[in-house]
Amino acid sequence: MNFIVTIDGPSSSGKSTLAKRLAKKLSILHIDSGSIYRAVTLYALQNNLLLNGKFLMKKLINILSMSSISLKENSNGIFKMHINNLDVENKIRGSKVSKHVSEIAKHKKIRDFVLKIQRDISKNKSIVMDGRDIGSFVFPDADVKFYIDSSIKTRSIRRFNQLKQFEKKLSIDEVKYDLLSRDKIDKNRKNSPLIIPENSLFINNDNRSIDDVLNIMLDHVKSIINKKVS
Ligand code: DC
Repeated sequence: MNFIVTIDGPSSSGKSTLAKRLAKKLSILHIDSGSIYRAVTLYALQNNLLLNGKFLMKKLINILSMSSISLKENSNGIFKMHINNLDVENKIRGSKVSKHVSEIAKHKKIRDFVLKIQRDISKNKSIVMDGRDIGSFVFPDADVKFYIDSSIKTRSIRRFNQLKQFEKKLSIDEVKYDLLSRDKIDKNRKNSPLIIPENSLFINNDNRSIDDVLNIMLDHVKSIINKKVS
């Protein structure tokens, strides 16, 4: 039986790490939906579509329709983001893309473009997908849903530690400011905002280790899936 597990939550809440590890434990695929929005943002920046602080959205939609933005599975069963067949996995994680991605992700046409990729890639497979609207909008009938959260302090420290090796000048206050502005856009946008999906298990991981949270998640998945198969 194929099943879908969704994990939603704000930036740097730990959801991608948990999603990756949960998928591995369950021997199913992991899809990081944020990476698709990040690739679209990188593509817009590479094509100089940011002018005076605003993206040229019509142009972006137009060039997207003529290009290939796709997740390709490598020999280890891990999906890597590609633009026109080039692996862009490392380029989509920097702070420039992070700064602009929520702005791009607000637009309905961009969300429709990403939705098609998300649904196509998950057809006839068991998957764990993480993002902002996965349990509420992309897969409202998913078998198991989680919402992962942690305090802004914990999230800022996590994100700062991820970025500091690449970006020496970055300060923790800058990281915190960026996270808060992305939260504001992600939670208040008109099209599929970040919400706690109905029937999801809410986990705050501030004072829990990754292994503890992972065990809670695994138990929850197993109890639901076992009920479905029995
Ligand atoms: O998870 P992340 O930080 O890589 O996501 C980057 C951005 O993409 C996030 O700020 C909002 C957007 N996003 C979204 O709108 N919906 C999703 N399902 C996943 C990401």
